[in-house]
Amino acid sequence: MLEQLRKIQAEAEEMIKTAIDLPALNEIRVRYLGKKGELTQVLRGMGRLSAEERPLVGKQANEVRDYLEEQIQSKTRQIKEQEKTKKLREEALDVTLPGRRIGLGRRHPLTQIMDEIQGIFLGMGFEIVEGPEVELDYYNFEALNIPKDHPARDMQDSFYITPEILLRTHTSPVQARTYEARVPEVPVRIIAPGKVYRRDDDATHSPMFQQVEGFLIDRQVSLADLKGTLLAFARQMFGQDREIRLRPSFFPFTEPSAEVDVSCGMCHGAGCRTCSYTGWLEILGAGMVHPRVLEIAGYDPEKVSGFAFGMGVERIAMLKYGIDDMRLLFENDLRFLQQF
Ligand code: PHE
Repeated sequence: MLEQLRKIQAEAEEMIKTAIDLPALNEIRVRYLGKKGELTQVLRGMGRLSAEERPLVGKQANEVRDYLEEQIQSKTRQIKEQEKTKKLREEALDVTLPGRRIGLGRRHPLTQIMDEIQGIFLGMGFEIVEGPEVELDYYNFEALNIPKDHPARDMQDSFYITPEILLRTHTSPVQARTYEARVPEVPVRIIAPGKVYRRDDDATHSPMFQQVEGFLIDRQVSLADLKGTLLAFARQMFGQDREIRLRPSFFPFTEPSAEVDVSCGMCHGAGCRTCSYTGWLEILGAGMVHPRVLEIAGYDPEKVSGFAFGMGVERIAMLKYGIDDMRLLFENDLRFLQQF
């Protein structure tokens, strides 16, 4: 029996040594030291031994059991230690790797242009006023001398919500609202930035775009004041070497009316591809506020006069940065936006 015990110990010891994980070790424990384990069987068979042999074998069996327990325990510690090291190694931080860069945000080119336009007019003493994007037909058209069924409405195909309410097609309704609110006070010197909506969609037209309206009402305002103001704007915006010109045009709410061009920065007036060989680039519509519009608001057109203009912000951005497709401004492609 002592021989059998030695054999068990040797066998078990070998298995413990080569066990690769905790479940394997547990299996060994069950196999040798468990209730039905090999060592337990030997102890059970001790009844058949003689009185002299019994204590010897008992002692030996206990020693083998203690020894194996100890071996299993130390192997358990060893395996646990190895697993921990392995896990640490897998999760390890390589502090020498380059860091992941966090992209710094910046303002959208349209926001930059909008701020620049506002800054220029604030510098000339204008104040900023905003109006609603969902507007009454009355302020968008009627108060601006565009009666129902007037053909001038066709110039601005619009989004109607009800027959009397629409998405504003321009920022000019802010003129009508402001005149109505401030009459008879002068001077009124205001710019009105904001979004406008039209049923248009191509490379140079978007169903939503932004405008900055400007208007000034005072005693004895002349076309020269309009031209001087716009020249000052154009030079600050595009460069001190620029010129502007006024071409006759038509708007129901201004008289006379003009389209305003700025000299081409590429060819300085000689004519090139950018300006379609005209030497000029159109930047806005303008004119002297129509006496009828002043009258509707309650001003006396015999006593006060004014000028007004409206510019497209996307258009100004496209001219300033040489962008040929307006849709680029709305697609939010970082490869485009990072250039500004
Ligand atoms: N509201 C006009 C447009 O959107 C522009 C404009 C504004 C013209 C003010 C004259 C005076 O086309």
